[in-house]
Amino acid sequence: MRDQADQLRQIVSKIQNNKKDDNTSYARIITITSGKGGVGKTSFTINLAISLAKMGYRIVIIDGDFGLANVDLMLGTSSRHGLREVITGQMSLEEVMVDGPYGVRFISGGSGIKELVNLSTTELDLFLQKIDELNMMADIILIDTGAGATENIIKMVLAADEVLLIVTPEPTAITDAYALTKIISASRRDVVLRLIINKAENINEAQGIFDKFSHAADKFLKVKIKNLGYILEDSHVPKSIKEQVPYVLGYPKCQASRQVRIVAGRLLNEDLGDTRHNTGMTSYIKKFLSLFRAN
Ligand SMILES: Nc1ncnc2c1ncn2[C@@H]1O[C@H](COP(=O)(O)OP(=O)(O)OP(=O)(O)O)[C@@H](O)[C@H]1O
Ligand SMILES: [Mg+2]
Repeated sequence: MRDQADQLRQIVSKIQNNKKDDNTSYARIITITSGKGGVGKTSFTINLAISLAKMGYRIVIIDGDFGLANVDLMLGTSSRHGLREVITGQMSLEEVMVDGPYGVRFISGGSGIKELVNLSTTELDLFLQKIDELNMMADIILIDTGAGATENIIKMVLAADEVLLIVTPEPTAITDAYALTKIISASRRDVVLRLIINKAENINEAQGIFDKFSHAADKFLKVKIKNLGYILEDSHVPKSIKEQVPYVLGYPKCQASRQVRIVAGRLLNEDLGDTRHNTGMTSYIKKFLSLFRAN
């Protein structure tokens, strides 16, 4: 126990020395997705965001859910506006962002994202200039893609350089995650794909799922999947959602809080000295749109 805490502190102090201290580099963009819906993406994203913010990072969450946005509900914030207003030129990024705990900022992407496709070149340029400001506001941008592997969500994933794929022990969650991995690997061999096992009963079950999944992906899809960790089934998670206070704040000592902190530490530690994958928000949007033109 003590060893783990010491290790975590060491990781954090190393990272803090390594943090970007100028405004010229790009924000690291991490897309959080799943094959099947309801596996815990949003609750994980929010608690990861706060854990990273507590370690001194500037975090922005973009709710990429095309349907119902629920980041708001879980973060305990409320936003009436989102990317739609920025895309249509009615509002600035600052105006649509809401502040959550520990300086975590949140932008509701929602249905606005669909409208990007219909912009003229001039309108798009203007939007991209605005979105570029995010690189100065954030060290890490977390994009929660919302439920299900729909066409738009697949494009959001294909535009990403770093993908966190969430699975649960449910067989359909695993097969859907595998199907998504197959789609990703068919066109993006360079993407960094990491797996998070959520809601497993114990570590053995979580490890077993990772082993089987990564073995199958390696053998049949020739994709190397990294293990980023697990969050076991924990009753504090649904409880904290009901209370609208993220569990890392309401129950900082619960199992899920400890495990999400370990995941956060790993995510940062892996990035030490490696900025190859940070291409920034403008590049992300451009890649996303090019996938529509490709069809
Ligand atoms: N580790 C966990 N232990 C127990 N319950 C969990 C855990 N993680 C998530 N849950 C529960 O699973 C449900 C779904 O969580 P969440 O809304 O975060 O999933 P999601 O993947 O974002 O869903 P959607 O695909 O609909 O956006 C919630 O009721 C939440 O309480
Ligand atoms: Mg969600």
